[in-house]
Amino acid sequence: MLLPVTALINAICLALLLLHTESTQPPFSCDSANPQTKLFPFCQTKLPIRKRVQDLVSRLTLDEKISQLVNSAPAIPRLGVPPYEWWSEALHGVSGYGYGVTFNGRISSVTSFPQVLLTAATFDSHLWYRIGQAIGKEARAVYNAGQAKGMTFWAPNINIFRDPRWGRGQETPGEDPLVVGNYAVAYVRGIQGDTFQGGKLNSGHLQASACCKHFTAYDLDNWNGVIRFGFNAQVTKQDLADTYQPPFRSCVKDGKASGIMCAYNSVNGVPNCADYDLLTKTARGEWGFHGYITSDCDAVAVIYNVHKYTKSPEETVADVLKAGMDVNCGSFLKNYTKSAVQQKKLLETAVDRALHNLFAVRMRLGLFNGNPNNQLFGDIGPNQVCTQEHQDLALEAARNGIVLLKNSAKLLPLSKNKITSLAVIGPNGNNAYVLVGNYEGPPCKSVEILKALQSYVKNTKFHPGCNAVNCTSVAIEDAVNTAKGADYVVLVMGLDQSQEMEERDRLYLTLPGQQESLVTAVAKAAKKPVILVLVCGGPVDVSFAKYNPQVGSILWAGYPGEAGGIALAEILFGDHNPGGKLPVTWYPKDFTRVPMTDMRMRPEPSSGYPGRTYRFYNGKKVFEFGYGLSYSTYTYEFISSTPNTLHLKQLLNSPTTIESSSSLRSLPVSDMGAEICEKAKFSAIVGIENSGEVAGKHPFLLFARHDRPSNRSPLKQLVGFQSVSLNSGERREVEFVISPCEHLSTATEDGLMVIEEGYRYLMLEDTEYPINIVI
Ligand SMILES: *[C@@H]1O[C@H](CO)[C@@H](O)[C@H](O)[C@H]1NC(C)=O
Ligand SMILES: *[C@@H]1O[C@H](CO)[C@@H](O)[C@H](O)[C@H]1NC(C)=O
Repeated sequence: MLLPVTALINAICLALLLLHTESTQPPFSCDSANPQTKLFPFCQTKLPIRKRVQDLVSRLTLDEKISQLVNSAPAIPRLGVPPYEWWSEALHGVSGYGYGVTFNGRISSVTSFPQVLLTAATFDSHLWYRIGQAIGKEARAVYNAGQAKGMTFWAPNINIFRDPRWGRGQETPGEDPLVVGNYAVAYVRGIQGDTFQGGKLNSGHLQASACCKHFTAYDLDNWNGVIRFGFNAQVTKQDLADTYQPPFRSCVKDGKASGIMCAYNSVNGVPNCADYDLLTKTARGEWGFHGYITSDCDAVAVIYNVHKYTKSPEETVADVLKAGMDVNCGSFLKNYTKSAVQQKKLLETAVDRALHNLFAVRMRLGLFNGNPNNQLFGDIGPNQVCTQEHQDLALEAARNGIVLLKNSAKLLPLSKNKITSLAVIGPNGNNAYVLVGNYEGPPCKSVEILKALQSYVKNTKFHPGCNAVNCTSVAIEDAVNTAKGADYVVLVMGLDQSQEMEERDRLYLTLPGQQESLVTAVAKAAKKPVILVLVCGGPVDVSFAKYNPQVGSILWAGYPGEAGGIALAEILFGDHNPGGKLPVTWYPKDFTRVPMTDMRMRPEPSSGYPGRTYRFYNGKKVFEFGYGLSYSTYTYEFISSTPNTLHLKQLLNSPTTIESSSSLRSLPVSDMGAEICEKAKFSAIVGIENSGEVAGKHPFLLFARHDRPSNRSPLKQLVGFQSVSLNSGERREVEFVISPCEHLSTATEDGLMVIEEGYRYLMLEDTEYPINIVI
C-alpha cells in the first residue's frame, strides 16, 4: 500500500516524537507512580542506604545477581529497576567514550576543557575544582535529559607520568605525586558535589561519581612490543610508597572518590584486579574506601588469557571477587560466575558483597529515589551545559596553562597594531580537533589556532608544511615562500593522537618525521625570529630550536581544549600574560636508551640508569619540571617560618618509638598518628613581588631538599604550590602550610614513611630557608 505523503510525514513525526520523549526520560528506580515497587524497603529514602541495599540484594535470584556484575547491567523489570551502564568517561569534560552517554538528544555538545596535563600546568587547585564542578553539572544535565544510562564516570586518570613516551601521559596531571594527588582531590570534590575543602554539600549524595584510575603502577600502553594487558610492573616497595600510591591514597582518603578502577597490569607478579592486599587491605582497610571497584575493560579476561595467572575462568572469577573487585568492564563475570558458584570456587556471599557496593553507589547517585526531576540535582537542565561561565572557565584554564619556554629579546608579545601580516605554518595550525586531545566530547565551539590569529591580523596566510603530523613528506619550498612574505611567522607543530594515545607509546622524543627540517628552514628564511608553538601532550626534545637564535620564542600549548586557539592568540598578542609551568620533565632524546619497562624511579649509578622525574633523574634536561616564563619578572624572599626548629620528640608521648635506621635517626610517620602529624604542621611565609611591567597570574612552587640526602632520597620534593595574581609592582606575602609527615618524610627501602632528623632547605627559585628537625 502506498501511503499519501502527508500520512508518511505524520508517521515519521510521530516516530521522532516517541524517540524524543523516550530520550528525555532519565532511567530511575522506585517510581512513586508504580504501586508495585514503591512500598519496597529499598525504595524508602528515609532508611539508611546500607539497609536499602540489603533489602534489594535479598530479593535477587542468583541469576539476577550475576547479571549485575558487568558494566552493562540489565534491567530487573519485576523490581522496577532499569538497566544501568557503569562505563562513562569525563576526563576533561563529559565524553561519549564508554557506553553511558550519547549526544543524540537535546544536548549535542559539552564544554571541552583543556586536556588534563595542560590544566595541571596552571598549578591552581581551585581552578581544578571549578572544572570538576562544571563537569559534574554538565554530566547531571546529560542524565536529566535522558542521554545517560549511568552516572559513574571513569576519571580522573592519576597515574604518575613516569616515562615521557607514555601515550596516555597527556591524560594525567604530570609526574609529581603531590600535584597529582591534589588534582585528584580537587577534581573529585568538584564533580561529586562537595565543597573545595571537602565539606559534604548534599548529605552524602553524589552529583556524579568519580573513579580513581588506574590502580596501580599503570603507565605503559604499547611500547616496543610490550603491551599493557600482560605487563608485569616490577616496582620496589620504596617507589610504591612515595611515588605510585600517594595520588590514589589522596583520591580516596581526602577526595572521597566513590570509585576505583583496577588496572590491566600486574605489580610484582599479581594482576591488580586479583590483588586482595591492594583492593581490600590497602584501599578499603587502610584508606577507608567506600565505593565500588571496577576492572578496566576486559582486565578480568586478561588475567586468565594473557597473564595466565589462573588455571580456569572460574578460578579467575573467584580471585577477583575475593580480592574486592565489584564490577567487570566486559563479559567475563557474566559468563563464568554461575559455574564458579556451582563448582564451589566461590560463595554467593562474595557476589552479595560486590552488589552491596554497586547498588550503594547507584543509591548515593539518587537513582533509587523515584523521578529524579523532583530530587536533588533534578533542576539541572540542558541550559546549564556550554554556559558562558563554563566556556569562560575552559578559556581561563587554557590561558593559565600554556607555558612560555623561550622568549629571546622579548620577541613576545607581538604588538597588535604594528603587525600587518602573519604566516602560520605547520600541520597543527588549522585543525581545531587536535586541540581537544583524547577522551573528548563534542565541544561547544571549535576555533583553530589559525582562525584565532586571523582575528588579530587579518592578513594571515597558512601553509601546513607537512602532509600530516607524522610529516613523512614535507613541502619546504612552499612553506618558506609563505613565510617569507610575512612580518612574523608562527609555526604550529607537535604531535597528535596518531603519535601518542591509548595503546600507542612513542619510540622517539623528537618531533615526528621532517618537522625539524621544516622549522629550521622556515626560521632561516623568515624576516624575524620565528615563534614555535608545540601542540602535544608528552614532552618533545626541541633542543634544536632552543639553541637556534632564529627561533625566538617557544610555547607549549598542550592539547588546550575548545578555547585553546583563542587563549594562545591572546598570549601571542599580549592580551594575556602566560604563567603556566611544566608539570613534567622534558628529557633529551637519548633518554630513549632507558627501557620504558623499567619502573625504577631512583637512579642506579653503577649501571648508568638515570632515574626518573625531577625528584630522581640525574641526567641532562631540555626543560625542567616547574619551568615556565612570563612577560613579567618576579622576585621572592623568605620572611619566616614558625618554628624553624621542629622538636618532634617533644610532640610524642612516648619517645620509645624513635627508631635508629641508617645513619640518621628517624621516626615512622605511622607512629606519630594523625593528631601529632596535625600538631607538627608549620607555616612558611614568603614574599613575592611582581617587579616587571605587566600584571600576571603566576604559580609559585615551593620545594624542599634534604641537607644530607642518601643516594635513594629525592634530589628535591615539591611541598606546596599556589597561583597568585599580582599587578605590576605589587608585593604579597603568601603562607604555605607544611606538614612534616606529608611533605618532609621519606620512604625507606621497606616502604615505610619516616621523618629523618637534620636540616631541610625550603626552596623558592634560588632562595633557600633552613628548617631543623630534631628527634
Ligand atoms: C562471553 O560469552 C559471549 C557469548 O558466548 C561471548 O561472545 C564472549 O566473548 C564471552 N566473554 C568472555 C570474556 O569470555
Ligand atoms: C602519515 O599520516 C598520514 C595521514 O594520517 C597517513 O595516511 C600515513 O599512513 C602516515 N604515514 C606513516 C608512515 O605512518
